[in-house]
Amino acid sequence: MVRETRLSPADMIAPLFVRHGSGLREPIPSMPGQYHLSVDQLVSECTDLHALGVPAVILFGLPAYKDEAAAEAYADEGIVQLGLRAVREAVPEMILITDVCLCQYMSHGHCGVLLDGQVDNDVTLELLAQVAVSHALAGADVVAPSDMMDGRVGAIRGALDNEGLSGTAIMAYSAKFASAFYGPFRDAAHSAPQEGDRRGYQMDPANAREALREVELDVAEGADMVMVKPAMPYLDVLRRVRESTQVPVAAYQVSGEYAMIEAASAQGLIDRRAAVLESLTAIRRAGADLILTYYAGQVAKWLS
Ligand code: PBG
Repeated sequence: MVRETRLSPADMIAPLFVRHGSGLREPIPSMPGQYHLSVDQLVSECTDLHALGVPAVILFGLPAYKDEAAAEAYADEGIVQLGLRAVREAVPEMILITDVCLCQYMSHGHCGVLLDGQVDNDVTLELLAQVAVSHALAGADVVAPSDMMDGRVGAIRGALDNEGLSGTAIMAYSAKFASAFYGPFRDAAHSAPQEGDRRGYQMDPANAREALREVELDVAEGADMVMVKPAMPYLDVLRRVRESTQVPVAAYQVSGEYAMIEAASAQGLIDRRAAVLESLTAIRRAGADLILTYYAGQVAKWLS
């Protein structure tokens, strides 16, 4: 009765990985319990999540090909676009969010276009805007740019509005830190940069004030929601962001946070269910309105 913070499946967003092919549900070795799903399996996963009360998913694509222009990222028959159309048709009420980034589609694995070995911020903006428009046309309700280029929210908002897609919302990965906790995801999404790292565009883990500035800029450019990522190592940032902005704040419990709980509980070192519920409650208590978590479906079952 006196509990201050409650968890509900209604606050959760399930990240899902979609691949080409059919009838495929391939386990992801770095993320036990998570799968690469072909479109038909994605549809059944979304049907189940919706029935459990999870209102939203965020889609990550595994393209058939990678090149230096990230062409499949904005192709009409790209894997995310195919997944969007299928889920939109089968589970019309599901809120469809897409990760807008280029790293999974680039042969070099960086989140932007490389010119002379460096990510070119402004050239990248045009491609990101193209990706967002193509996702929205295929049925995305919300596009979530995770690339961390400067000015991308404004570029995407402008491009969506030009195409008459003013109803498509933007969830900005605003405070996205250059984190070691993305390791298992990069295996899962085949998106590790081949050379260098992402510290040129993602944030320094030491900086909290800078996170507030990133949030402020994204909101000014038209972000409808902002995100802090990862979640648990950045609860202080989450709290400060919650206090500094009026838009909904999401937190991403990332692959490394997930993998740590899975590994420790598989070894009998911690109680899996208690650790999952405690971590998510802590993220909500720190200020998250919404949580992106690989545990969304699992938690919905526990709470039902
Ligand atoms: C793409 C992207 C990443 C994640 C979400 N979108 C990887 C990265 O930035 O390297 C990480 C998600 C996770 O670790 O669960 N840029």
